Amino acid sequence: MTAVGDISRIAIDRRAVISVLRRLRTPEGQADPFPLYQELRAMGDVVPAPWGGYFITGYDVCDQVLRGRNWLVPDFAWQERQQDTERWQAPATREMSLTLSRLNAPVHTSQRRGLGNPFDRSTVAAMRPQIEEHVARLLDALDGELAANGVADFVGIVSEQLPLATIGRWLDIPATDFPHILDFTHRQVHAQELLPTKSELAVSEQATLELRAYFTELVRSRRARPGNDVVSRWIRHWDEQLAGDRHAADQMVYQLVMFVTIASLETTATLLSVMVALLLDEPVRWQWLRHNPGHVDDAIEEALRYDPPIHLNSRVAADDTVLAGVPMARDTTVHVMYGSANHDPRRNPDPDAYDMLRGGTHLTFGGGAHYCLGAALARLEARALLTALLNRFPTLRLASPPSYAPRMVFRRVTSMKVTA
Ligand code: HEM
Repeated sequence: MTAVGDISRIAIDRRAVISVLRRLRTPEGQADPFPLYQELRAMGDVVPAPWGGYFITGYDVCDQVLRGRNWLVPDFAWQERQQDTERWQAPATREMSLTLSRLNAPVHTSQRRGLGNPFDRSTVAAMRPQIEEHVARLLDALDGELAANGVADFVGIVSEQLPLATIGRWLDIPATDFPHILDFTHRQVHAQELLPTKSELAVSEQATLELRAYFTELVRSRRARPGNDVVSRWIRHWDEQLAGDRHAADQMVYQLVMFVTIASLETTATLLSVMVALLLDEPVRWQWLRHNPGHVDDAIEEALRYDPPIHLNSRVAADDTVLAGVPMARDTTVHVMYGSANHDPRRNPDPDAYDMLRGGTHLTFGGGAHYCLGAALARLEARALLTALLNRFPTLRLASPPSYAPRMVFRRVTSMKVTA
């Protein structure tokens, strides 16, 4: 392996990096990106991106960036300084730049404080029966489809529906709106990919308009008829914080509710699909877990480690700095590669094996000030689903391997046929 910070070797490897990126975008690369990540890691912990900035491939350096105070998320001000205005000033990109994940201290700190921990132990315990109800209903639908056709698409019937039902109930959104929400969240995400094309940005822009219209109206109607739901609570909180400036409060709540919805849907759906795919890939794993249900949480953590729903996230240098021996100027972008970090053999030996008993570590929910707010909820959904599936479908099998959307950042399983 290249010594960390060996800049001369880094420069030589530019074409090799381009080759890896090209292969990462193919269907084969999407289905199994881990050998390609290994190629990148072999070039070093810090690998120059062809368009500037760096990929951070190793676990410890990724962790250092996520937790480091001298690394910021690329916020609105950073975006405005970029020369590629087509990308960074695109309406869909700008809309996201005002959300929690794109804010830095002190604004980020005050917004996080305002939210508290929305999924603390007691809330999660209170949500569990509802989530188990959703699971039971979705598994009835799966059962019905299997009885009728012999095969069923697990993604469409179960994985995409459970996070939607969960977050929909939490935000008190009518179920009739769910298909629309699912549709625009899938289309919006392009703007957050690594290298969106012009046409992808246009698709995201249209989705952003729909999303803004939908959630603005939701906040308006909740203000008109407040209840005891989370959106009404956020309105009360921000009215107080902003000294009665209702317009500003509504804008704040719109950004929160819109972002939480986007942040929770595809990510959790991907976890649910990937977890089931990894377990069914070797039927012996499914059988072993059925007989050892005390390891359900271990199976979930290992799925989170093995194939994280988000494979990459970016940070920018707050000042001139040196990372793993490589000097970097203020504003330099680094791409933290969660998928590669989790497969770093220095942290998780034999990383490409799915091993429920490894007790490994992962960066799948990020780290530091921006650590995922919904990690406990995602784990709760995965636990409820896996426990019920093992009981109700002891002979579940994969009828076809999962198909993935052609993306590098936000993993999305588009279909996965199962049989029983
Ligand atoms: C398996 C499912 C999920 C995964 C893998 C995931 C992953 C992530 C990651 C990687 C981040 C960025 C962390 C960083 O920048 O260091 C994040 C942030 C966030 N996630 Fe999740 N997430 C999941 C589910 C959820 C759910 C269910 C919710 C809400 C109900 C949620 C809400 C958020 C929010 C609000 C943030 C922004 C936090 C901030 O910037 O302060 N996520 N998530």
